[in-house]
Amino acid sequence: MSDEESATKREQAQRVREMFAAIATRYDLLNHLLSGNIDQRWRRLVVKTMAANLTATGARVLDVACGTGDLSLALAGGMKARVIGVDFCRPMLDVAAVKAAERGLAIPFVEGDALKLPFRDQSFDGVSIAFGLRNLASFESGLNELFRILRPGGTVAVLEFSTPRMPILRSLFRVYFTKLLPLLGGLISGSKSAYEYLPDSVSRFPDQGSLAALLQQAGFSEVTFQNLTGGIAALHTGKRPNL
Ligand SMILES: C[S@@+](CC[C@H](N)C(=O)[O-])C[C@H]1O[C@@H](n2cnc3c(N)ncnc32)[C@H](O)[C@@H]1O
Repeated sequence: MSDEESATKREQAQRVREMFAAIATRYDLLNHLLSGNIDQRWRRLVVKTMAANLTATGARVLDVACGTGDLSLALAGGMKARVIGVDFCRPMLDVAAVKAAERGLAIPFVEGDALKLPFRDQSFDGVSIAFGLRNLASFESGLNELFRILRPGGTVAVLEFSTPRMPILRSLFRVYFTKLLPLLGGLISGSKSAYEYLPDSVSRFPDQGSLAALLQQAGFSEVTFQNLTGGIAALHTGKRPNL
C-alpha cells in the first residue's frame, strides 16, 4: 500500500471514530428506535449460534468493534462465556462499561483497533463482530485479524446489514436507508453526517455471497450465512480449520 493510500485509510478511520464518539450516548436509543428493536433479535441469534458451536464452559470470546456492548452483554449473559469487548472509540466503550456494571457482568472493555488487535495469535475460542466490519478501512485486513486471534477449531460470527433478497424489500430498504433514516437519525442524534454515512457504508458492503467468499479467502472453512429479516441483515459464520 502506498504512503498516500495508508494516510487516506488512517483519515477514514479517524473520521469513523469521531463520528461514533459524537453519537455514543444516543447510539443505543437510536439503534433500537430506527430498527424497531429487531437488532436485539439479530444479536440473540449470534449468541445462539456461538453457544451451539462453543459448548465448553468458560470459552473465551472476543467481541470486536463492540461499541456500546449490546452483543458483548448478550454473549456474556447468554452462554456463560468469558467475553472481552474491543473497540477503538473510548466514548462507546464507556457506555458499554456502565451497562455491564449495571447488570453485574464483569466484561473487560478494551480500547483497540480491529485492524491491529491487541491480542496474541490463536487466543480466543470465538470471535464476533456486529455491524463493525462495514466500518473498517479494509474488510480483508479485518477478517485476517479475526482469523489470526482465533484458535484452530474456533468460530467466527459476522452480523451485518446485507442485501434484501426480494426486489420490493430491496427498494423499500433503500428508500428507508437513504431518505428516512438520515433524516430521523440526524434529528435525534444531532449528527446528520453520521446517519448519512450509514447508507453509504451499507451500499459499499459486499452482499451475502461476496462476504462468504471473503471469509473463505481469509482462511475460514465451513462458511455459511443466514438471511435475517429477508436479508436486511445476514449472519455469516465460519471456523478456523483445525491444524
Ligand atoms: C455500528 S457500531 C456497532 C457496535 C456494536 N457492535 C453493536 O452491535 O451495536 C460500529 C462500531 O465499530 C467501531 N469501529 C469502527 N472501526 C473500528 C476499528 N478499526 N477498530 C475498532 N473499532 C472500530 C466503532 O467505534 C463503533 O463502535
